[in-house]
Amino acid sequence: MEIFHKPVLLQEVCHYLAVKPQGRYIDATLGGGGHTQEIIKGQGLVLGLDQDPDALNACPRLDGLTPVLANFTHLKEVAAAKSWTEVDGVLFDLGVSSHQFSTPSRGFSFQLDGPLDMRMDPTLNYTAADLINTLSDRELEYMFKTYGEEPQSKQIARKIIQARPITTTRQLAMVIQSDSQRRRVFQALRIAVNNELDSLEQALPQALSLLTSGGRIVVISFHSLEDRIVKNQFREWEKSDLGHILTPKPVLPGQDEINLNSKAKSAKLRAFLKK
Ligand SMILES: C[S@@+](CC[C@H](N)C(=O)[O-])C[C@H]1O[C@@H](n2cnc3c(N)ncnc32)[C@H](O)[C@@H]1O
Repeated sequence: MEIFHKPVLLQEVCHYLAVKPQGRYIDATLGGGGHTQEIIKGQGLVLGLDQDPDALNACPRLDGLTPVLANFTHLKEVAAAKSWTEVDGVLFDLGVSSHQFSTPSRGFSFQLDGPLDMRMDPTLNYTAADLINTLSDRELEYMFKTYGEEPQSKQIARKIIQARPITTTRQLAMVIQSDSQRRRVFQALRIAVNNELDSLEQALPQALSLLTSGGRIVVISFHSLEDRIVKNQFREWEKSDLGHILTPKPVLPGQDEINLNSKAKSAKLRAFLKK
């Protein structure tokens, strides 16, 4: 049986959330519920959000879990609707799950052929193919440079314009020269389609406002753009005397975890404690 998603930095998440019996935790990225199950094992209660109905369907029904189909940009609204206005911790485990990534029809992987989709929320208005086929060369270049940090953005944008229309992951992968470039271009597209950086910037202050005094925010990010947002936000809060950073340096998975789960390789965990 396929594992939906192997949770990363599982013990570290529980440690930094300081999970306690009857504590209330929001898992803003429920996925397959791996982190949530561990919080519930520690007798915490979880309000779990995911914007992907597949994740909600696959996540085990657990006593103590209230699952909600929602984007975490609506964190405060969702919490208020469930009367979860004061919580002990909020977890963000960013990006896509292994299930999303390895399902060809979702279009996230350049190694699996499928429609160029990449929407985590299948009701979003535009897909990766829509962006690839309608943006100007300047806009494509900007996207690859800003969200993929791809040095050859201009050349790749030009090749894409010449090869359009492009509707599948394989077609797009063929236009790009190397796997490292493909990885960066696919990352950029995924970030753009799902508005990932803005969503994170919008959600972090909402998470802080929901925390009780002594409550914690834990974020696991998988690339430098997300990590920078988290690092800067936590620094700003600390300067404003709203609490303190629990992880002066990001916490990384050990070699043992990476050996068991290569996807953990790029994970970075940061945690903040509200005053
Ligand atoms: C890395 S997985 C989480 C895995 C989970 N921690 C586990 O242990 O199974 C990220 C999940 O967050 C969801 N997600 C990403 N961005 C989101 C957002 N803005 N709002 C709600 N869910 C989001 C994705 O759909 C995906 O299911």
